[in-house]
Amino acid sequence: MPLSSSSTSSTKSIRRAASELERSDSITSPRFLGRRQSLIEDARKEREAAAAAADAAEASEQIVFEEDNGKALLNLFFTLRNSKTPALSRTLKVFETFEAKIQHLETRPCLKLKDSLEYFVRCEVHLSDVSTLISSIKRNAEDVKTTREVKFHWFPKKIADLDKCHHLVTKFDPDLDQDHPGFTDPAYRQRRKMIGDIAFRYRHGQLIPRVEYTEEEIGTWREVYSTLRDLYITHACSEYLESLRLLERYCGYSPDNIPQLEDVSCFIKERTGFLLRPVAGLLSARDFLASLAFRVFQCTQYIRHASSPMHSPEPDCVHELLGHVPMLADRTFAQFSQLYWFTVEYGLCKQNGEVRAYGAGLLSSYGELVHSLSDEPETRQFEPEAAAVQPYQDQTYQPVYFVSESFSDAKEKFRGYVAGIKRPFSVKFDPYTSSVEVLDNPLKIQGGLEGVKDDLKILTDALSVLS
Ligand SMILES: [Fe+2]
Repeated sequence: MPLSSSSTSSTKSIRRAASELERSDSITSPRFLGRRQSLIEDARKEREAAAAAADAAEASEQIVFEEDNGKALLNLFFTLRNSKTPALSRTLKVFETFEAKIQHLETRPCLKLKDSLEYFVRCEVHLSDVSTLISSIKRNAEDVKTTREVKFHWFPKKIADLDKCHHLVTKFDPDLDQDHPGFTDPAYRQRRKMIGDIAFRYRHGQLIPRVEYTEEEIGTWREVYSTLRDLYITHACSEYLESLRLLERYCGYSPDNIPQLEDVSCFIKERTGFLLRPVAGLLSARDFLASLAFRVFQCTQYIRHASSPMHSPEPDCVHELLGHVPMLADRTFAQFSQLYWFTVEYGLCKQNGEVRAYGAGLLSSYGELVHSLSDEPETRQFEPEAAAVQPYQDQTYQPVYFVSESFSDAKEKFRGYVAGIKRPFSVKFDPYTSSVEVLDNPLKIQGGLEGVKDDLKILTDALSVLS
């Protein structure tokens, strides 16, 4: 006898849940491939790895999904023999004991066991009680199963949530990568760890602690800075050159000084609304891209090994401060940096009949900057569909570069590309609260439209005053 009012839909839902259970059993853990492909590919792999980890954890935790208040939602299936009448009351007593809040309960005749009923219970219970509750149910019931429903993966909703977005890819870590120039230098590794710890301790809203760089570190910076500085005039785009001029004037950029992240962050915040925050190494694509949605750029603070000033297998402050920051200080570029892809590292653009570089991976590497504008590599017109999945080389120069007509043209193309991506809901960044709102109901969309109308009115009024 069904306990719920709609037996047909209930039966369907219990079947659906059961078949999900069977499917989840057959999922195998995807391997996380070390080779970096593209940011989108990396993010996809990370998502799969997270799902696999959740599947592995399921065996011990059986949580449907975790709520903010320390509660877990559980889907439970079990069978009770009708002949054992006290079994039902004892089972219900278990839910009572653990103060589990039953949200849904239904039954159907059990096909396997005559005179028995299968139960489907969805309940909310405190996280710490989950396994004890399940083992208590197992004492009274047979065939106890749980399922997990992943609605969508967690992502930061407010800027302070970025404190949880510091998952690192350790492939190029000097402690683990034998090819890293600092692998055999314990003093370097110790220094890098000390600076990395600043990032692990950092919380949103704090001032970024200053690093007192050593003479050797400043020497490395000087060598790269002076060499690249000469090349920028002929190879970097005009937006980069203008920003670098300002950074030299206001932010302590010079061959003899490694700028402090806090000073640079204040400067670009005023220019484009972007903020910097320290990070301890190469960030996972998922966390890196999530930060950009809040106009936050995660920057490493340590510097590359002195033995290899012109190349670093991992991001360092030279790459961030010379590669990324000048472009983030340009308003148009910053606008589409919030929409990140391959070309932000390796992008070229047309300017006054010439091709110039704006990608950070180029602007922080003498060799690749020269290579990218030589006849050697292939250049293709920028198309987001192709650029998004373009594999890239992390040990050598890129064989292919994408050339944009202009930043505006790239932005328009990219918006068109993003519009075609399937997702369960849209999100909107609110610059007043630095938060991301999930637009999953008409009221929220209406609220967003009201905001746009207000902004439009201000602009219309301004236009009428001018005319
Ligand atoms: Fe980068």
